[in-house]
Amino acid sequence: MEKSENLMEKIVALCKRRGFVFPGSEIYGGLANSWDYGPLGTELKNNIKQLWWQTFVHARADMVGIDAALIMSPKVWEASGHVAGFSDPLVECKKCHQRFREDQIGGVCPNCGSKEFNEPKQFNLLFPVRLGPTEDSSATAYLRGEIAQAMFVDFKNVLDSSRVRVPFGIASQGKAFRNEITPGNFIFRTREFDLMEFEYFVKPEEWEKWFEYWRGEMHRWLIAIGADMSKVHEHEIPDGERAHYSERTIDFEFDYPFGQKELYGLAYRTDFDLKNHFADAPYKDPETGEAYYPHVIEPSFGLDRTVLVSLLSAYQEDGERVYMKFPPRIAPYKAAVFPLLSNKPELVAKAKEIHAMLLAHPLPTAWDDRGNIGKRYFAQDEIGTPYCITVDFDTLGESHEELKDTVTVRDRDTGKQERMKISELKNFIAWKTYA
Ligand code: GAP
Repeated sequence: MEKSENLMEKIVALCKRRGFVFPGSEIYGGLANSWDYGPLGTELKNNIKQLWWQTFVHARADMVGIDAALIMSPKVWEASGHVAGFSDPLVECKKCHQRFREDQIGGVCPNCGSKEFNEPKQFNLLFPVRLGPTEDSSATAYLRGEIAQAMFVDFKNVLDSSRVRVPFGIASQGKAFRNEITPGNFIFRTREFDLMEFEYFVKPEEWEKWFEYWRGEMHRWLIAIGADMSKVHEHEIPDGERAHYSERTIDFEFDYPFGQKELYGLAYRTDFDLKNHFADAPYKDPETGEAYYPHVIEPSFGLDRTVLVSLLSAYQEDGERVYMKFPPRIAPYKAAVFPLLSNKPELVAKAKEIHAMLLAHPLPTAWDDRGNIGKRYFAQDEIGTPYCITVDFDTLGESHEELKDTVTVRDRDTGKQERMKISELKNFIAWKTYA
């Protein structure tokens, strides 16, 4: 069977069965288009988040991070243009009365096939929230529709409290909320989602250079998370279709099983946002003393879409065997430890010792003593564990003295096994998985 056949169904089923992603509020009949990350999905998602922070913040001298409030003053969203302009065109089918985003349906109702719609209305995506116990409209605020605004609003605070100078970036990770008209396709489009993005502040005349630079870095990131690069495409968003703040945008699109759609965005936001929030130029060139508004390049990475692309790209079928070829760095577990037989106390004791040693490193390591070894390999392959370590009778030195204190280490991708000294395991797994 072709790998791509029913791939989405296979991924959704595997995610539920193995604890990557569950339908939200399931025991109450579910809440449409909401999803919960289970134990393994949480590890995968956190590993991606940490790798992103490591890559774009810790490994660079020109980037600092913030972690801002999810509910900001409503004045932020008025100044940013989101109250007036953060909307999608909503149409209602005249026949079945279902509502859709006009730009997603090509003039035909996906529900009943009718071509007759009411006049499109602009539907604002911001989620209002009421603060405090009053009914007074002055207490209405919004959940943040993008995480970017805090990085503009806090611009001067960051500047005054750290040593960054243009060119530099402010990075952030966290939830954003949008009242999407048509959420769907698993974790691809939801009403709450995680974003990872940075605003990179540059001299106005250098924006094109930095735009190209970040375009390249976004490619390198996609390779690092194991995205199938043959399915990645760049799409230049034409005039008239870009977000209200952008003068140039390239979308990174991916061939999902449900079509070629957006994965990430790279936008040139000019000085639009800083000008909206600061009446006076907020930056002074340390050499010339000239005050000006820096311009902004914004690489924006949806975290849930990153998880989806890493799942879709990792999925491999090899005969009966299914394995998730995650780059070891983002795999939920780095290794698994098994005693060959679960009813031999000496084997179990030795295997537990190794398991404890790896956990203490700390290397996230699974334990399994159920069923036979083949089934355990199968189960670890399916969750993408790069190495399986088995303690057998040779480990105890029962037949060959020279094999005492060695174990077998099996590689997920090749299925090949090699014997290794227990004393070498920790460094080997840590080195191979960058943990
Ligand atoms: N600050 C720029 C910004 O928010 P965006 O293109 O509106 O730009 C950025 O969103 C990224 O967030 C997208 O490229 C996508 O990865 C992700 N994203 C947007 N809407 C989403 C949704 N409803 N569900 C999941 N991810 C979403």
